[in-house]
Amino acid sequence: MSTSSSTSQDKKAEEEQIQGSTPPYNRHILICTGVPSKDWVKKPELSDPYLNLLSTEVRGQEVKVNFTNIASSDLSQTAKDALLPTKGPRHDLVLFPDNIKFKGIRSEAFRDLSRYLAQHPVGTLRPTLEKLISETGSADEESSSVRMELVPGSGEVVTIELVQEPSAVLVCTHGSRDCRCGDRGGEFCRILKDMVQATGLTNSIKIYEVSHIGGHKWAPNTIMYPSGDWHGNLSELDSVDAQHILFDSLASAGVAAGVRERGAADPVMIDKWRGRIGLSREEQQKLYQAVLEKQKQKSIEAATRTQSEPQSLFSAPGEDLYQEDGLKEQRTAASEEAKKPEPKHPVTAGVDTPRVKIIFETFQKVQTEIDAKVGERILDIVKDKDPSRSGVYQALECTCGGQLECATCHVYIESPFYARLPGVTDAEEDMLEYAVGRKESSRLGCQIKIQPEMEGMVVKLPQY
Ligand code: FES
Repeated sequence: MSTSSSTSQDKKAEEEQIQGSTPPYNRHILICTGVPSKDWVKKPELSDPYLNLLSTEVRGQEVKVNFTNIASSDLSQTAKDALLPTKGPRHDLVLFPDNIKFKGIRSEAFRDLSRYLAQHPVGTLRPTLEKLISETGSADEESSSVRMELVPGSGEVVTIELVQEPSAVLVCTHGSRDCRCGDRGGEFCRILKDMVQATGLTNSIKIYEVSHIGGHKWAPNTIMYPSGDWHGNLSELDSVDAQHILFDSLASAGVAAGVRERGAADPVMIDKWRGRIGLSREEQQKLYQAVLEKQKQKSIEAATRTQSEPQSLFSAPGEDLYQEDGLKEQRTAASEEAKKPEPKHPVTAGVDTPRVKIIFETFQKVQTEIDAKVGERILDIVKDKDPSRSGVYQALECTCGGQLECATCHVYIESPFYARLPGVTDAEEDMLEYAVGRKESSRLGCQIKIQPEMEGMVVKLPQY
């Protein structure tokens, strides 16, 4: 193979890797359309002069601009979340990761805004405003806001407000740009909103529907602030993804236990992590590799740990990070829901059932060794919420519970073990047609029962 073709293949592989796919940017502004996301046109920047102008003015500051749709229908702004839309002469903007609203700004002041942001880099703006609000007589302390000119002497007065909800999740629901965003993103957004309501977190976390944020093939995509972590390939069928997103968003804002400082913590859901605000592609990939290394190390440690020291997806032994924010109940409910379609498997209940060692390997080559029971299916292992099996649980959805209706239990089993498996039935063959990344070694995990001759079998997991 020639060097040039290797280089182009390497480049293609790099472009297709989800980790490192977040474009470099430093800040993010949301501007409101005043119309529901389902009615957004394909390219709003071509039809909305304010979005176009704002994007142009702040481009030099590496600021990303998107539409959102939380608008006050009568422009009275009585609703707490309402934003003045681009229909009128004045607009409201939300700025991340600073978590600040610019209220009633005219398009004539967009250039002032750009200059103001340049003078107040990320990390300095909010503390500056907090100080101003506490010290100046012009501050409206009740709403944590202050009225001021962004450029002294400009005559353009705006209200700057500190957003009270400490964290936010932005979900791309831009269906006219990509139907996957509209359908899957819309559904994922609904799950997040329901979860925030059900857990009483409305004062802690804000969910925004936003226009296209890039990366069709990874839809639905989310961005959480203040960490600025991007995730893609989220599943609307499994609220576990939503719990991870909400929890990490809260943790990065210091709301939940296990407080993380912005930019200092490792990303979660690393297989679906796209990248982070403020980092180049190379820096994102470096961080990804570092997290993989840590996971490998943890995997080795877990193999030597006794069962009396369980590991959780969310917490260190003895900690319960969901305790304080109400997500624990939601997580339990989701687990119960996931169990519903799963048929009972009598063999797995026996305490004296013979065991064999099965090794699960993610596409990043992270291995988890499982003490599997003879007779249980790979699906049973995945659906078992035993924390010692959590590395596997995270990787396979098994959505239909073994009814041969989804192919989300797709795994690869290579020689010599493939030949020891029972033959592929017509029904399994039909469903394997839908498996993403099907190979010669593909099988459906719900159709494979563990047998003694499988001792040491490696079950490889596909990327998605
Ligand atoms: S779990 Fe759906 S086909 Fe196997």
